[in-house]
Amino acid sequence: MKKLGVAILGLGVVGGGTYKILTDNKEYFKKTQKLDITVESVLERNKQRALDLGIEEDKIASSIEEVISNPSVDVVVEVIGGVEPARTFVLKALMSGKTVVTSNKELVCKHWYELEAEAKKMNAGLLFEASCVGGVPIIRTLTEGTQANRILSLVGIINGTTNYILTKMEKEGTDYQTALKEAQHLGYAEFNPTADVEGFDAAYKLSILSSLAFSKRIPLENVYREGITKITGEDIAYGKKLGYKIKLLAIGKNTDAGIEVRVHPAFVPVDSMIASVNDSFNAVKITGDSVGEVMLYGRGAGALPTGSAIVSDIIFAGKHPEISYATFENTKEADKSTKFVSDFTTKYFIRLTVEDKSGVLSKIAGVFAKYGVSLKEVKQDVYKENGVPLVIITHETQEFSVRKTLEKLEAMEEVFSVDSLIRVEE
Ligand code: HSE
Repeated sequence: MKKLGVAILGLGVVGGGTYKILTDNKEYFKKTQKLDITVESVLERNKQRALDLGIEEDKIASSIEEVISNPSVDVVVEVIGGVEPARTFVLKALMSGKTVVTSNKELVCKHWYELEAEAKKMNAGLLFEASCVGGVPIIRTLTEGTQANRILSLVGIINGTTNYILTKMEKEGTDYQTALKEAQHLGYAEFNPTADVEGFDAAYKLSILSSLAFSKRIPLENVYREGITKITGEDIAYGKKLGYKIKLLAIGKNTDAGIEVRVHPAFVPVDSMIASVNDSFNAVKITGDSVGEVMLYGRGAGALPTGSAIVSDIIFAGKHPEISYATFENTKEADKSTKFVSDFTTKYFIRLTVEDKSGVLSKIAGVFAKYGVSLKEVKQDVYKENGVPLVIITHETQEFSVRKTLEKLEAMEEVFSVDSLIRVEE
């Protein structure tokens, strides 16, 4: 039976989950995969953590050099997270000809080109199923399941922390800060929640996934990003009345006009499949020109779901000695021929607080008309002490026209505040 030696760099939540799956299922993998997988080495600063997992002392390495010089290690699993020292360790492992499996979205997103160049040079594997949407096998779906297609679009909820927060706000009427605290308490959100709540985590994943989906390098810099920190309970309540739920969406489109990649909160129809993805769950819908729509749903984080993706990469590496890399030239920047669409088209929900005076509505409508933004619905709410809330839904229109409209509205003395701008994706 083929033997496969694994090293794990980092024994945090995901490293621990990976170790557990590999050890608990050792006999099962022998039977089903015809692979005898053994954890031969671990690199973990907190030695006690390794010992607590039952790892023998002689398998606890004291440096990356010790790991990569171990001839019984075939696959190095990097689950440290962040760019450094993960990047240096991964490069060293690849330089020594070891296959690398990583869950590190930031590293893959920012340094994929250099990691892949090194992997190619050494004929080593570079696998990162766990970097995007945890246990949901979206990468293998794109690379091994839907290659027959030109992928036209990819839409998903690819960050569980923000989905948990938005679901909590919607179901319990809590405000953003309360929902964030609860997410932190449950271990979904980190002490510094910026990467999740400002949409960086989703943008890293969208950069990787859209590159794979559209067979083009889509760098992070080309992904439009907006987080959830400005979403209020009022927005959610207005959305509910209009038949919408709010989600942090990652959207990638590949059209004749070019590539469109964006992460931002959006209203989606309450009866859509994506609206039913709640709590910390993730989902991704891809549309291919032959297969049509395919939707995957599951856990995007956690020890065992992410460990599941890592172990599936280890098994893949063990069973596929021929190595596959990206289907496009993997460079730092986007290819010069790639056209990006930043002035994208969608519908908009705009909430203003305005002066209660005759003629204000027509003046506001005039500004929308000036920039060619057609209105679908205008609702005036009851007067509050600071003015009249006005909710506007537009027809499909250009992003830049809406931004120019809002700039003008902000400068009007009858407009006390522009409270929200939320895209509506139907
Ligand atoms: N922090 C991520 C999330 C999981 O909340 O979905 C890891 O990418």
